[in-house]
Amino acid sequence: MADWLAVLHRRAELRAKAGLTRRLRPRAAGDTVVDLAGNDYLGLTTHPEVTAAAGRALAAYGLGATGSRLVRGSTEVHHGLEAALADWLGTDGSLVFSSGYLANLGAVRALAQPRTLLVSDAHNHASLIDGCRISGAETVVTPHADPAAVAAALAAAPGRPAVVVTESVFSVDGDLAPLAELHAVARRHGALLLVDEAHALGVTGPAGAGGVAAAGLAGEPDVVVTATLSKALGGAGGVVAGPAEFVRHLVETGRTFIFDTALPPAVAAGVRAALDLARAGDDLRAELAERAAETVRRLRAAGLTVSAPDAAVVSVTAPGPEAATAWAATCADRGVAVGCFRPPSTPDSRSRLRLTISAGVPRADFERALDVIVEYAP
Ligand SMILES: Cc1ncc(COP(=O)(O)O)c(C=O)c1O
Repeated sequence: MADWLAVLHRRAELRAKAGLTRRLRPRAAGDTVVDLAGNDYLGLTTHPEVTAAAGRALAAYGLGATGSRLVRGSTEVHHGLEAALADWLGTDGSLVFSSGYLANLGAVRALAQPRTLLVSDAHNHASLIDGCRISGAETVVTPHADPAAVAAALAAAPGRPAVVVTESVFSVDGDLAPLAELHAVARRHGALLLVDEAHALGVTGPAGAGGVAAAGLAGEPDVVVTATLSKALGGAGGVVAGPAEFVRHLVETGRTFIFDTALPPAVAAGVRAALDLARAGDDLRAELAERAAETVRRLRAAGLTVSAPDAAVVSVTAPGPEAATAWAATCADRGVAVGCFRPPSTPDSRSRLRLTISAGVPRADFERALDVIVEYAP
């Protein structure tokens, strides 16, 4: 084996010893696995109106966008989707990126000038962390969901531009950030608030408009929202939403927007149809909330340590990485897919199963999945 590959092999062995091996498992179309690992919260990925809309755009535009948005990739479908997203989120404007990851990189970088202080929650997603890193701006990481710590960080940098960076529903434990308090702190110090609604859009807030809308902050001039279109909206892509002047700035300067082939029009059309269904989907959201609450009740009754059911992400503590991996693998063998989070991809040293509840899973399958998780708990 070449030297550099031997080095990689030794590193892989060390990861295996620490219980940190990761494996890809190809999924067959139409498999019968009960999915508590994906993020299709409302079951819209396979909704006939969504796939039909995508199919029509596929026939009309072809497979890809053929270029970046500023070249030939900007279709009427993209523009319609952006108008609908801005209307839903209550912002002046919005801009669609080809993934939520790229939306976050672009948004954080665009908000940071050389002197900017970024104040980033300790549980933030990798895409926000990487956005802070590539911006080159000084970043202070504050303890999770701690407005007092954010206030202290801002107070320590008087007169400097600053951005408070947070998720709204956190991807690790599914808890809701104290958005109203964070906004009040940010405003008091003249800072901006950037909120990633990846796990909240379609799931929480009035008509599913997310945590920012729920906190009464939609359209505030010092708030910027990002989200992925790949979770409750069932497709792919990302969005940055906020004041029109900021959207213009992104179009003209955002590197992850400018130098990237546009989202395929068929995906944009499917997401547009999903948005209408999600916006009108209070019944789906009620079902989701009820299932999240039942999950927490059942697992706590079995003596497990479980996060609060603030949205549709439920995290269950495992004794360690190997136990978490074995638990998830046993569930998979019994036909139940669950997420498995272990250090270093957890913000603390805790290993957990992450259950993402979906209103699209048949009720009986959902109940059976809870039985399996409880039965094989370590
Ligand atoms: C909180 C959060 N932000 C951003 C992303 C990235 O979105 P995408 O998968 O569309 O790149 C994810 C995960 O997918 C996420 O969980």
